[in-house]
Amino acid sequence: MQYTKILNINEKNDILKAINLLKTGHVVALPTETVYGLAADGNNDKAIEKIFIAKNRPTTNPLILHLSDLSKLDMWADNIPAELYKLAEHFWPGPLTFLLHKKTDVSNLITAGSSKIAVRIPRNEVFRHIIRESGDGLVAPSANLYTKISPTSADHVLCSLNCRISAILDGGPCNVGIESTILDLTSKEPTILRTGPITAQKIEKILGIKIKMPAKHFEHVPGNVKRHYQPNTKTQMMNIDQINSYIALSSSKNKNIGILHYSDLETYYDRLFYIRASAIKETYARDLYKHLHFLDQKEFDEIIIESPPQDDEWLDILDRLRKAVAS
Ligand code: TXA
Ligand code: MG
Repeated sequence: MQYTKILNINEKNDILKAINLLKTGHVVALPTETVYGLAADGNNDKAIEKIFIAKNRPTTNPLILHLSDLSKLDMWADNIPAELYKLAEHFWPGPLTFLLHKKTDVSNLITAGSSKIAVRIPRNEVFRHIIRESGDGLVAPSANLYTKISPTSADHVLCSLNCRISAILDGGPCNVGIESTILDLTSKEPTILRTGPITAQKIEKILGIKIKMPAKHFEHVPGNVKRHYQPNTKTQMMNIDQINSYIALSSSKNKNIGILHYSDLETYYDRLFYIRASAIKETYARDLYKHLHFLDQKEFDEIIIESPPQDDEWLDILDRLRKAVAS
């Protein structure tokens, strides 16, 4: 494969190039509000296969279908429940993915053989324009190598997928920064399969019913695996007291350590490298993968991440970080 082309979202011609590549069965990384997605035509199995190859991703891990607008939904999904329309009114376009019953003719490659399909309408207008112009729907997982840190900039995509994909449409940094919430609407009780920016509380407020959330949903769905979002560097999560004690230890003196924290530390040692993250959830989420990519590229001996606040609003951050440090 040749070098990956970098296309600019502000150039009409570049957007046309992205559309043409997708129409002719290539894969292109596109910006969404959550993370960059690696897109392919949902009606073209040969193109979809390229996603799994480029990412080194097992085909047992299903893909999210991205639509331009609600009117296309019944081409892909069956028995769409009323809850979807209620929630779509509030949260689409946006970082909420629904699991629905799929239409029988939808490719099994998208759903990993399941009779259910995950669907969302992304907020990025250019992405939606590209979907409209390139076919009926684009499947897109995050544009990173399997189990590695998700990309929130074109540079992050290039770091892991250069020469493995045809092009990246550079749309600047993603402003939500963390993957969509996945809500299963196929069971009697709506259930969150992956926590994300749209919290259970926000959904409950619209539906007026309790949303189920399995406390531990590792491997609850295919692809929802224990190790994910991982830096190459050894990474640990600790609370602020543990960090204070750990970096004061003489055994940490000979190590190059990068620390991602949002609380005050007792002592700041010149020998260590610190990134002060925001204590505001939305800002923390927006910058998390950027910080992890940065720390990983520094090739420290270790990365230490302060554990997030024990608060429902931060559950998605806790989920991503647990998987990032899992061994
Ligand atoms: O924000 C996002 O959701 C981003 C952007 C690009 O839209 N996409 C994303 O895709 O995070 P990915 O492939 O990295 O994660 C999607 C996860 C899969 O790992 C799987 O757990 C779940 O969604 N999923 C997709 N289709 C499914 C299905 N049919 N049944 C169960 N789980 C599914
Ligand atoms: Mg992913």
